[in-house]
Amino acid sequence: MQQSSICYLNGDFLPLEEARVSVLDRGFIFGDGIYEMIPAFSGHAFRLQEHLQRLQNSLDAVHIRNPHSLEEWSQLIHAVIEKNRTGHQAIYLQVTRGVAHRDHAFPDVSEPTVFIMSNPLPVSREVKPVSATILEDPRWNNCDIKAISLLPNVLLRQKARERGAYEAILIRDGLLTEGAASNVFIVRDGIVRTSPKDSRILPGITRDLIVELLHKHEIPCEEREITEADVRAADEIWLTSSTREIVPVTQLDGVPVGTGELGPVWRQTVELYQSFKDTFTGAEAA
Ligand code: PDD
Repeated sequence: MQQSSICYLNGDFLPLEEARVSVLDRGFIFGDGIYEMIPAFSGHAFRLQEHLQRLQNSLDAVHIRNPHSLEEWSQLIHAVIEKNRTGHQAIYLQVTRGVAHRDHAFPDVSEPTVFIMSNPLPVSREVKPVSATILEDPRWNNCDIKAISLLPNVLLRQKARERGAYEAILIRDGLLTEGAASNVFIVRDGIVRTSPKDSRILPGITRDLIVELLHKHEIPCEEREITEADVRAADEIWLTSSTREIVPVTQLDGVPVGTGELGPVWRQTVELYQSFKDTFTGAEAA
């Protein structure tokens, strides 16, 4: 555990190791809560409005009252960033339905628990290709909610690790959904494809930015269903997330992806993404 970072819990800023929540918190008892992870580069929260909109969508979907206005969230997040000012940060925020006596149905009254912490975000421009394995997606039909109940994702990532792979690429009813903790893009004959946004995947903020940048730069990109056969026949496969950005997969179940080398479309896309980040001044985080 990180020893020296400062977190925010229900109105107080305090050292992470001193933060405590009740054992009756519904987050602990039922996994009844949602979360967000916002990258902060050199003190600037990246795509903050988009993350806060997704936070609102997740809260609405599970009927937890948003305890803060956009302005308050922004202030709290920036306060945590400021108090942990070292390099790039992964700002995790969790909101649960709060503390109540154990009953599955919603309590009549409960104050949401709000927790925000900062982890180091070790993004680097050094390229680290990874391997992936295909697994059946056993999750529920609300994967668009960024729920804290991540047990299926944990088991999938662990299974991938036991197979010697970095990530599990998930297939439901023969179609690609996403990774255990990432979205997935494939490239075939120069055309980029990713699964459409629906209840089978998390609408990744990184995914959306990539789609936006590809359209802007007229690189063919389609949001449509992808079969397992398409994934296995892809020239390139990428995993995307706020923590790892755009990671090339060069081995899938022990078989090279395309040539097994870094793909040209991946290179182009990473360049677009990095230059977008370089021009990011924090204005959108204000
Ligand atoms: N997870 N799909 C899943 C299931 C994820 O957990 C994540 C990210 C993504 C990518 O979303 P984004 O681009 O907004 O980070 C897709 C974060 C990083 C996490 O849980 O730590």
